[in-house]
Amino acid sequence: MTSIRKAVLPVAGLGTRVLPATKSVPKEMLPVFDRPAIQYVVNEALEAGIEHFVFVTGRNKGAIEDHFDRAYELEASLHQKNKANILKELEAERPPAGSMSFVRQQAPLGLGHAVWCARDVIGDEPFAILLPDVIVKAAPSCLAQMTAIHEEKGGNIIAVEAVPWDKVDQYGIVAPESRENRTVRMSGMVEKPKRDEAPSNLSITGRYILQPEIFSVLESQDKGAGGEIQLTDAMATLMERQDFFALEYEGTSYDCGSKQGYLRAFLQFALSHEEEGSASLETLRRVLDENNA
Ligand code: G1P
Repeated sequence: MTSIRKAVLPVAGLGTRVLPATKSVPKEMLPVFDRPAIQYVVNEALEAGIEHFVFVTGRNKGAIEDHFDRAYELEASLHQKNKANILKELEAERPPAGSMSFVRQQAPLGLGHAVWCARDVIGDEPFAILLPDVIVKAAPSCLAQMTAIHEEKGGNIIAVEAVPWDKVDQYGIVAPESRENRTVRMSGMVEKPKRDEAPSNLSITGRYILQPEIFSVLESQDKGAGGEIQLTDAMATLMERQDFFALEYEGTSYDCGSKQGYLRAFLQFALSHEEEGSASLETLRRVLDENNA
C-alpha cells in the first residue's frame, strides 16, 4: 500500500471566533502553553511520517512561514548562552529545508476550495489533510493511527468521534453502516446537518487520508452548507466509487478555533507538560482559589 508522504494544512481562515486575539496574529500561531497551536499539528503529522507539508494560506499568515524557518540570530544567541536543550527542541520540531510549500487560497470559498488549491503540489498520490483548528492529544498520534489503517486497507480514511447531539450541526457527520473494532464503514456523510436530520452523532474530527481523485470532484463541486464549497460534499461523491472508512481514533480533540476549546487545550497541555506539569497545576489551583472556585 502506498505510504502517505504529503499533508495539506488549510490555514487561510480568519479566526473570527477568537477575536480580538486574532486581529493581527494568525489563529494557528496562538500559543497553547509553550508552542503555537500549529506546532502540535505538525508534530502529529511528523510522527505519522509526513515528509512534505502544503500550507494553504492567505494574507496576514506570514508568521506561520517564519515559525517553521530557521532563526539564525536566535540560534546564535542560544548557542552563546549554552541553551542546548532549547536548541535541540527547536530543531526537532522544524521540518527540513524544502519540505514545506505555501499556496494562497486567494478567496474564502470554503474548506473544499482550500484543499483543491493544493492539487498541483500534491499530484497523483494519496495524501493527508489536517485541520489546524483541531489539536488531537493521542499516542500514537491521530494521523499515525490512520496511516496504520491505511497501510492495511487502502482507500480513504477519516477520523471521527462522538459529539453531543445538540452539537451535530457544527460538524460533518457520518452515516455508519458496519463496524470492525474502531473502523467503521459508512453509507454517507453530511456537512452540518440539523439535529433531526443527522444520521448519527459521529462527527468528522478534521483528519483525513484521501485519494487524489478528490481533486477532480472538488473541481466541479457546488456550494453547500454555509454557501461554501464543502470537502464533506466532495467526499460523499467520491464515496460512491471508492472505499471510505471512518476511524474512531483513540485520543482527545481540542477545538482551538473557539475560546473555550482553546482554553481547554491550553490547560491540558500546561498540566500534562513533562517539566512544567506540576508547577502548572499549582498555578491553576492558585487561580481557582483567587476566584473562590
Ligand atoms: C470543518 C469540516 C467539518 C469538520 C470540522 C472539524 O468544519 O467542514 O466537516 O467536522 O471542520 O472541526 P469547520 O469547523 O471548518 O466549520
